[in-house]
Amino acid sequence: MTTNRRILLKSRPEGLPGPQNFEHVEEDLQDPPADHILVRNIFLSLDPAIRSWMDDVESYFPPIGIGEPIRSTTVGQVVKSNHPDFKEGQYVLGLNGWEEYSITPGAGFTNVIDETIVPSISNYLSVLGAVGLTSYFGLLDVGKPKEGETVLVSAAAGAVGSLVGQIAKIKGCRAVGIAGSQEKCDWITGELGFDAAFNYKECNGVAELSAKMKETCPDGVDIYFENVGGDMLEAALDNMNEFGRIPVCGLISIYNETEPQPGPTNLWQLVINSLRVEGLLIKNYLDRFPEGALQMATWLGEGIVCVGDGPPDSACLPPCPADCSIVPDGQVNVTDLLALLAGWGSTGSCDMAPPGGDGTINVTDLLALLAAWGPCP
Ligand SMILES: NC(=O)c1ccc[n+]([C@@H]2O[C@H](COP(=O)([O-])OP(=O)(O)OC[C@H]3O[C@@H](n4cnc5c(N)ncnc54)[C@H](OP(=O)(O)O)[C@@H]3O)[C@@H](O)[C@H]2O)c1
Repeated sequence: MTTNRRILLKSRPEGLPGPQNFEHVEEDLQDPPADHILVRNIFLSLDPAIRSWMDDVESYFPPIGIGEPIRSTTVGQVVKSNHPDFKEGQYVLGLNGWEEYSITPGAGFTNVIDETIVPSISNYLSVLGAVGLTSYFGLLDVGKPKEGETVLVSAAAGAVGSLVGQIAKIKGCRAVGIAGSQEKCDWITGELGFDAAFNYKECNGVAELSAKMKETCPDGVDIYFENVGGDMLEAALDNMNEFGRIPVCGLISIYNETEPQPGPTNLWQLVINSLRVEGLLIKNYLDRFPEGALQMATWLGEGIVCVGDGPPDSACLPPCPADCSIVPDGQVNVTDLLALLAGWGSTGSCDMAPPGGDGTINVTDLLALLAAWGPCP
């Protein structure tokens, strides 16, 4: 009997998640029932949204149940199919879990991928998957960039933001990024082609953030691609040009907050500059994934979109920098994960969990968290 190693949600985190919230179990692998498939997960994407799914709050997806595996997008291979649309050996992208094997009905989010289109199947989680297509549809469909405009991106060295800036450049815009270290700023300007960047951690409060935005966006901001919220949004509102657009993709600064956070004090800017603020949710674009993926694959093939090596301190990114994929030698398990993370160094962030922090997890904390789970025998 094959064993399935799984990381389950043991309890709901209050604020930052810690080891106490997770359980590492090994279970006998079951056969998939009729109309289901058994998938061996190969890559998984560590997304900030996973944190919100751990809360007992109705959202665009139901909360992860206690005792269920941590939900995550994965790319895997069908090892057994009882579903007419899937064949054994095919690679599939789907919403599965932190587990070596997932049994899925094959409907909805599970799609067969053509692994010959891009260099690595992990690219289907990053540049061609929900992450990359959030950047693509968020900027192009919601932001509607015009040549010569200034696009300001928060969390710009993250999976979504790093692609938003690159797409903005392809569309002839000026791309300005906000990131949390000088190394990340150097990476997005030096390797990804952003025109300017600044480290928000050197700014103290809204006024200093706003001044930095003015300095790096001297012609004002036409599109502010919002990944962060809080002070960042308030500062950006002060810098928007007339008829500016704000695609609201995420609010990562509040995901671990336990108390309601104050909103911006300057909403009057929406009126005086006739701004459009629009939330975007990638699951509303599922029917347009083939269109977006084809374009992203083309740009990737032409070498004008980069998913090469991430910044030196980025825990989320290597070896496929824009996607936060974990690449443990074909299988997701704690031992391989530990080895992989050890190779990443100690200063990157992943925004997922652990003890005492500022909303981001660094590798040292993540290692401590995983060590507490214990390696797989
Ligand atoms: N709406 C949708 O359908 C959709 C889909 C995918 C993602 N998203 C959202 O998009 C955003 C980015 O996701 P991602 O996949 O790019 O994540 P990611 O690769 O994990 O990057 C997130 C980055 O956010 C920055 N960050 C964390 N806490 C912060 C804070 N308090 N203030 C400022 N920056 C902070 C960190 O970089 P620094 O070191 O620079 O601080 C971190 O590396 C998230 O809000 C996520 O929820 C939305």
